[in-house]
Amino acid sequence: MKKLFLALAFAILATPQLIADEGMWLLQLMRQQNLEDQMRKSGLEISIDDIYSPDAPSIKDAIGIFGGGCTGEVISPNGLVITNHHCGFSFIQQLSTVEHNYLHNGFWSQSYKEELPCEGIAFTFVVKITDVTDEINNRVKNGEMSEEDSFNRQALSKVAKELFEKDEVEGKEHMYSQLLPYFEGNKYYHVYYKKYTDVRLVATPPNSIGKFGGETDNWMWPRHTGDFSVFRIYADKDGNPAAYNENNVPLSTPKHLNISLNGFEQGDFAMIMGFPGSTSRYLTGEEVKQRMFQENEPRIAMRDVTLKIIREEMAKSEDIAIKYANKQARISNYWKNSIGMNKAIVDNKVVETKLAEEAEFKAWAHSIGNSDYASVVENINKCVEEMNRTAYLSTLTVELISNVEFISRNLADQNKKMFETPENVESAMERTYEWLHNRDYNHEIDRRIAKEVLPLYFELTKAEERNPYLNEMYAKYKGNLEKYIDDVYNNSILANEANFKKFMKKPTLKKFEKDPAMKLRSAIFASYMELNAKSKEFAAVMNPLHRTYLKGIMEKANGAPVYPDANFTMRMTYGNVKPYNPKDGVTFNYYTTLKGVMEKEDPTNSEFIVPARLKELYEMKDYGMYALPNGEMPVAFLTTNDITGGNSGSGVLNSRGELIGLAFDGNWESLSGDINFDDNLQRCINVDIRYVLFVIEKLGNCKRLIDEMNIVK
Ligand code: ARG
Repeated sequence: MKKLFLALAFAILATPQLIADEGMWLLQLMRQQNLEDQMRKSGLEISIDDIYSPDAPSIKDAIGIFGGGCTGEVISPNGLVITNHHCGFSFIQQLSTVEHNYLHNGFWSQSYKEELPCEGIAFTFVVKITDVTDEINNRVKNGEMSEEDSFNRQALSKVAKELFEKDEVEGKEHMYSQLLPYFEGNKYYHVYYKKYTDVRLVATPPNSIGKFGGETDNWMWPRHTGDFSVFRIYADKDGNPAAYNENNVPLSTPKHLNISLNGFEQGDFAMIMGFPGSTSRYLTGEEVKQRMFQENEPRIAMRDVTLKIIREEMAKSEDIAIKYANKQARISNYWKNSIGMNKAIVDNKVVETKLAEEAEFKAWAHSIGNSDYASVVENINKCVEEMNRTAYLSTLTVELISNVEFISRNLADQNKKMFETPENVESAMERTYEWLHNRDYNHEIDRRIAKEVLPLYFELTKAEERNPYLNEMYAKYKGNLEKYIDDVYNNSILANEANFKKFMKKPTLKKFEKDPAMKLRSAIFASYMELNAKSKEFAAVMNPLHRTYLKGIMEKANGAPVYPDANFTMRMTYGNVKPYNPKDGVTFNYYTTLKGVMEKEDPTNSEFIVPARLKELYEMKDYGMYALPNGEMPVAFLTTNDITGGNSGSGVLNSRGELIGLAFDGNWESLSGDINFDDNLQRCINVDIRYVLFVIEKLGNCKRLIDEMNIVK
C-alpha cells in the first residue's frame, strides 16, 4: 500500500518528465506556451532567450538551412558549418570524378585556399519572424483575399512581397521573405531570411565512414555512420551575401556553437533546432489509410523496379557508381521510408489510435454543443474517399516523371516558346540538350528504367484513367511498350548528338512538335497538370475542414501547448538521451562505438567497407581527446527528440546549448512518426560530435579545423 502511495506521489511529481517529448515547437511561441518550465524540468540550464531572442544574438543565429532541404550550424568564428554527409552528398558527388573521387576517398582541405566552391549551394539564416495572422484574417474578411487563397502558397507569397517591400528593415537587399500558414491556417507567420551562396566544401569523410551501412542500415538502429561533412560560408568584405568570388572572406556570424566533449549519459537533456520538412500529425484515420495505399504503396512499386536497375548498373562501373550515387540515395531513401512507414502504421496501430482520438473528439464536440467540430472528421473522410483515386494516380504520375529522366529532363512545353523568337532557337535548344545530357545522365540506363517503369504504370492503371496519347501508343504498338520506348529513345531529336545535329540544321516548330519524346513528355505532363487541378479542388474543400479540426483540437487541449505540423520552418524540439525496446525481450543501448564498425565490416559489400586507416586507429586506440572515459570511441547515439526529414544535419545541444552531436536519421520501428509520435519507440539517431572531431583530426589530419572551434571540456 505504502509502495503504491509512493509510486503515485512519484508519478505526480515526475509528471513533467513523463510528458511526451513530442513537439516541433515554434521559437516565437516558446515564451507564450510556457515551454521554459517544461524544458527546465527536462534539464535545460540556459534561458530560452539564449535559444531565441527577437532582438539579441541567440543560438538560432548559428543555425540555418543547408542547401535546399537540410539543416546546418556554424561552429567557428570563421563561418565553418557542419551538416550531415548525406546533406552535403549531392555537392560532394558533383565535385567527384574517377580521378578525384571524393565520395570514395573523402576530402580534407589543408588551407582556406583548398576549400572547394560548390555550384547551386546555399546557407540561409532566419533573420526575423513576425505574426501576421490578423493581417491575413482581415484581408479575408474584407474580401481582398479568398478563403482558398489563404492556404495558397503563391497567393501568400504575394502578400509577403507586399509587406516586405513596405518594411524598412536594414540590409533588406540581402534578404527575402516567406509567409506561410501554420496550425492548418489558424496562424500565419512572415519569416525573413538571409541567403549566402558562396559556400565551400571544407572536409568530408569517405562514403565508407559518412555513408557506412548504406541502404542496409538506413532508417535503422544500431547505427555506425559518421554522417557529417564540413563547409564554410564566404561573404563579401562587409559580411554580406555575394556570389562566389576569390576575394570573398569567411563569414563571421553573431553567434556560433560551442562544442562539448563531455558527452552525456542516459536521461541527459538534448535539444535540436532545425528545419523539419513536413509532418502530418493531424490526419484522420482515413487519411492515414490514404497515405498507405494511395501514396506509399504505388511509390514503393515504382521505385522497386528503378532501384533494381540502378543498383545493377552502379555495381558494373565506377563511373556510373559516381554518376548515379545521388539519384540512388534520393530514390532509395523514401522508398525504404515508405516501406517502413506502412509497416510501422500497422505495428503501432496508428489507424486505431486515430479512430479512438476521433471518437473522443466527437464526444467532446457534442458535450460543448459544437456541431462544426462534431461533423468535421466525417466531412474530411467524405472528401478522402472521393479523392483516393486521384491521390493514387498522382503518385504514379509523379514517380513516372521522376524516375524516367528522359521524361522529366526533356523538352518542356514552354520550350516551344523559343520558336517565337527564332534567333534564340539555337542557343535554347543547345541548353535543353545539355540539360538532359548532363554529366550524370546515361541514356541507356534511363532507357532500361523506362522499359520497366512505363509498363508498370500501365499495369497499375485502368485504360480510362490514362492519358489518351499513351493509350494511343499502346494500341499503335500492339501493347509492345518496349518497342515504343526504343523508338522514342532512338529517334528523338534529343536521343543522341547525331539526331540533334541533324535537327539543328533546320530546326522548325513542326519537327519539334512531332518529336516522339516531346509528345510523350507533353502527354504525361498534361496528365500531371490535370491531376494537380483535381487535387486543388479537393484541397479547397479539405483545407478549411482541417483548419476547423485543429482549432477544435487546440480548444480541447485547454491551454496545454500544441505545435503545428512541420513546414520547413525553424523549430525546436527537446527531450533526452534514451534507449528503447524495439520488441519483446530486446533492448537497444542508447549509443554505439567503433567496435561495432569493426563487427559490421564486410570487404565484399560496398556498404560495409572499413577504411584501413580507421582500423589502424582502432587497433592503436589512438582516439586523442575524444575517447569515452572507458577508452572506447563513441559513434552514434539516441535521443527522444521529435524530428523528421529536413532536420538532417541539425546540431544536438546539451543543457548548456553546446553541441554534442548531429541528428541524421529516425529509427525503423517508428517510421509512422510523421503521422503519430510514439513515445516508447520514436528515437532520433545522432552521430556523436566526438566521433566527428576524431575523424577530422586523426583521419583527415585537419587539426586546423579543430583549432578554430570553441571546444569546452
Ligand atoms: N534516412 C536519412 C534521412 O532521411 C538519410 C540517410 C541517407 N543515407 C542513405 N543511405 N540514403 O535523413
